[in-house]
Amino acid sequence: MTTTTATAPGKVILFGEHAVVYARPAIAVPVAKVQASVTLTDGPPGSGCTIAAPDIGARVRLSAHREDPLALAVRLALEEAGIQAEPDWQLTVRSDIPIAGGMGSGAAVSAALVKSVFAHTELPASAQPSAEAVNRIVYAVEKLHHANPSGIDNTVVVYQQPVWFVRGQPPQPFNIARPFHLVIADTGIASSTAAVVSDVRRAWQDDTVGYEKIFDGIGQIAGAARQAIQSGDVNALGPLMRENQRLLRQLDVSTEMLERLIATAEEAGAAGAKLSGAGRGGNLIAVVESEKVVTVQEALLSGGAVGALVTRLGS
Ligand code: PMV
Repeated sequence: MTTTTATAPGKVILFGEHAVVYARPAIAVPVAKVQASVTLTDGPPGSGCTIAAPDIGARVRLSAHREDPLALAVRLALEEAGIQAEPDWQLTVRSDIPIAGGMGSGAAVSAALVKSVFAHTELPASAQPSAEAVNRIVYAVEKLHHANPSGIDNTVVVYQQPVWFVRGQPPQPFNIARPFHLVIADTGIASSTAAVVSDVRRAWQDDTVGYEKIFDGIGQIAGAARQAIQSGDVNALGPLMRENQRLLRQLDVSTEMLERLIATAEEAGAAGAKLSGAGRGGNLIAVVESEKVVTVQEALLSGGAVGALVTRLGS
């Protein structure tokens, strides 16, 4: 009996969520401190293929749940690897990425599943499906979660690099010239990306000119942030986050709790903070000078965040 393990990181969007659905650029980075992992073990002959996620009480059989997201990831990976017969495999998913928290939990679970299938098939390196193939499959599964994903979540989680992302274009990895720290804090409020994205779509339909203007503003902030990150001007990032948050508020995707925690982070010394992901709950991010990281983290936790982790971006 052989066992294969594969992992994928969480992610945060630094700048550009929502506007990215409307073809404006966005910046996202992997967060390796939280991970999804899959252990794939051979089962007895005839046992079939089962995928279990014990942390959320899920257990699906590949043959019986063809449109379940866990099963779909495995099925598409098997198709890509040219395996037709259902294998006798037990796949177990574990993840410490907050669910429905804007940290790419669904994409990371799919990516880890697909990578585990490819690794377990022991294809020679020349026949191994490419990262593009993994990305394509994870994107197909993302479409089950919400109908119109921009593709940013799957891209950053699969390539595991900071990416400059424009919908429909190949992702551009880019360099972080000077390291900086983020505090990522969880409101503990689960938020459905699908619901928030479709609310924004309705509002955009009602006021297309106004919303297009906000999306343009967010796209310009993403562009300025890329310049700042690539040139090592980390002092520019705080004000850009504040400005991005002001526009997200105009899209009506922030909440009182997010606003309160963002203010808490800034009062405790963060240079700037904003929600990250779909909003209406989930996580916020704060850019913080290294000597203030612990103060900001503690302030967020005593202010009601259910979790707060620190990550250093750039090496
Ligand atoms: O899945 P989340 O919550 O990180 O949100 C994804 C970001 C959005 O821009 C809101 C949606 C998308 O598809 O890009």
